[in-house]
Amino acid sequence: MENQKKYILAIESSCDDTSAAVLCNTKVLSNVVATQEIHKQYGGVVPELASRAHQQNIVPVVHQALAKANIDKKQLSAIAFTRGPGLMGSLLVGTSFAKSLALGLNIPLIEVNHMEAHILAHFIDDESQTVPPFPFLAMTISGGHTQIVKVSDHFTMEVLGETLDDAVGEAFDKSAKLMGLPYPGGPLIDKYAKHGNPSAFKFPKPKVDGLNFSFSGLKTSILYFLQRETQKNPDFISENINDICASVQFTIMEILMGKLQMAVKQTNIHVIAIGGGVAANSGIRDRLREAEQNLGWTTFIPKFEYCTDNAAMIGIVGFLKYQKGEFTDQSIAAKARYAIGG
Ligand code: KG4
Ligand code: ZN
Repeated sequence: MENQKKYILAIESSCDDTSAAVLCNTKVLSNVVATQEIHKQYGGVVPELASRAHQQNIVPVVHQALAKANIDKKQLSAIAFTRGPGLMGSLLVGTSFAKSLALGLNIPLIEVNHMEAHILAHFIDDESQTVPPFPFLAMTISGGHTQIVKVSDHFTMEVLGETLDDAVGEAFDKSAKLMGLPYPGGPLIDKYAKHGNPSAFKFPKPKVDGLNFSFSGLKTSILYFLQRETQKNPDFISENINDICASVQFTIMEILMGKLQMAVKQTNIHVIAIGGGVAANSGIRDRLREAEQNLGWTTFIPKFEYCTDNAAMIGIVGFLKYQKGEFTDQSIAAKARYAIGG
């Protein structure tokens, strides 16, 4: 029935992607992402520039999302937006825009936690992905986050471990920068690693208790290693790029898989769902496939467009909250530090 169809407009602006999506219930009608190219020349995200670019992009991106979905804003049932965590200036743009539009259209406003959205992206109804059964372990790996979360149902989540310093994507990007590769270097490390020997060079794994992660030490050991080797041979990096990338990627995968194995042991949950931009990495994909065969895990990886920062994942949370009648007051404020369940 037509009135069973709920149209949610979702807005994401937590970091350096301005995104808007329109969902009809659990299906994505459009998912527009404007990636800010300006940060490339600085080798990382510059918060002030990100806020300014969001402000420039948000109206065109929302218009495009509505046009692609062929939906008029008068048909919308609610507006969902990323409240946090993220860069405050960036969050403010999306939050203010969402509040104003919901007020103008006189429809409900729904706040969304970006980290919960990375996990609930698995629930988008799309032929290229399967919904994981509860309970499952979610590992969110991106340029901004690294977490292992026990997911008992859509809104019962417990963070079992997270990074104490850099996110795994940052570990990739910073290592790549040390090798002189452009930002974001993660995909390039992945590309070179495919032609290299993962045991050519050894990097120490951090000693962090429990299910928490630390990646800053790895970056330092790569820095010292490269300094030492380039002193002996100035062409060391270019001559060994494949082996260095394969070894760095192998070390990062060992860290991630080690913690996942520990989480499986601790919870006795063998269903693993990953998300975030680093889920594109071929190393993690291979290792998860191996774990399916050797360890009896069932693994889930969303479609890539729902792994990186995007508004469709905000929209699915918006729809799930809409069903529960969980709406947000207009007095809501963005929250740069916003823990899952917080
Ligand atoms: O989810 P995302 O688009 O944005 C953040 O929330 O950070 O993730 C971007 C991160 C970057 O650090 C990028 O280098 C990394 O994901 N990344 C990869 C690969 N593709 C993207 N890292 C390793 N291998 C890849 N294939
Ligand atoms: Zn993210």
